[in-house]
Amino acid sequence: MDIPVLRTQNPKAKPQSEAGLGFCKRFTDHMFIMEYNENDGWQNARIQPYGPLQIDPASPVLHYAQEIFEGMKAYRYEDGRIGLFRPMENAKRMNRSAERMCIPPLDPDIQLEAIKKIVEVEKDWVPKSKGTSLYLRPTIIAEGNTLGVHAAPRYIYFIICSPSGAYYEHGLAPIKIHIEPNYVRSVKGGTGGAKTGGNYACSLRAAEDAKKHGFDQVLWLDGKKNRYVEEVGAMNVAFIIDGKLITPSLSGSILAGITRDSVLQLARDKGIPVEERQISVYELLDAYKVGKLTEAFGTGTAAVISPIGEMVFKDQVMTLGNDIGPISQFMYDTLTGIQTGRIFDEHNWTMTLA
Ligand code: PLP
Ligand code: COI
Repeated sequence: MDIPVLRTQNPKAKPQSEAGLGFCKRFTDHMFIMEYNENDGWQNARIQPYGPLQIDPASPVLHYAQEIFEGMKAYRYEDGRIGLFRPMENAKRMNRSAERMCIPPLDPDIQLEAIKKIVEVEKDWVPKSKGTSLYLRPTIIAEGNTLGVHAAPRYIYFIICSPSGAYYEHGLAPIKIHIEPNYVRSVKGGTGGAKTGGNYACSLRAAEDAKKHGFDQVLWLDGKKNRYVEEVGAMNVAFIIDGKLITPSLSGSILAGITRDSVLQLARDKGIPVEERQISVYELLDAYKVGKLTEAFGTGTAAVISPIGEMVFKDQVMTLGNDIGPISQFMYDTLTGIQTGRIFDEHNWTMTLA
């Protein structure tokens, strides 16, 4: 694929310091973009200066949330090279989300080429310090000019990039989680398994309320019985109970996280027993009361491994403490070690860019 590059005439100043980059607070100089229409399919791939998109105000993305996205990172190795982590998994998941949201699929090889090209153009923006990376946000939005509720005739795929540090302001410090008893994020047969904007929009009410009460995130329960643990707002969740790593199974209502899958593999490699199954909030409370719930952590591209220090369900508090548990720490060190080329990548997960 030929990807012409139109370079900016006004490059932005790069961050002076990589400490306190935060998550996606600034974007790089360029973006990848291509368009779809019914006659030509996906076409007109290019890299152009980062800037506003012009779309019709009647576009379905603006009214009916027909959109999907991915989240991935380009990592700086100690020797200065740059790598991607399981990028094909993101491309394949993008197409699974596309299928659910009636968006035309985009060949995973083309997605990968686009990702590699934008990282190559923005390579000087990939930060170097420990815990930092260039966050990449491939997105597809639906364009059109009628308000009927149907799949759009046109789409835009774009990738924007942001030099980022920790997702949570306090870095790797354990987070405080509100287990949501009333609102639900998704139901079986809904869109929870797709990475689509509406899932996040509908999570905001509970997340904002929880924030007012001092929580970092919401842990969602299933939409039918309000009983089984699903996932956290921007990550999957895992618990260490009686030495076993237990995580909710992929029922269709939660995102099939790539970090989740990697953590399961790393646990199996280390001989930690793994269970993917339904787990109720009452099982968590019981395990906590008898001292068997020893660790809980979130897994996600943005959040990496995010230890949970406290979980609150109604008036019941589970305190896991401010120290990072040994399995959470092992997962964080191993995953980030592989991602930055410090630890041997026996599963061939990383894709090193020249
Ligand atoms: N669950 C939700 C709702 C997410 O937004 C994310 C982030 O992408 C994840 C889970 C974790 O997925 P991954 O590990 O592929 O980043
Ligand atoms: C990611 O981890 O990449 C995500 O997409 C989570 C995001 C919604 C912040």
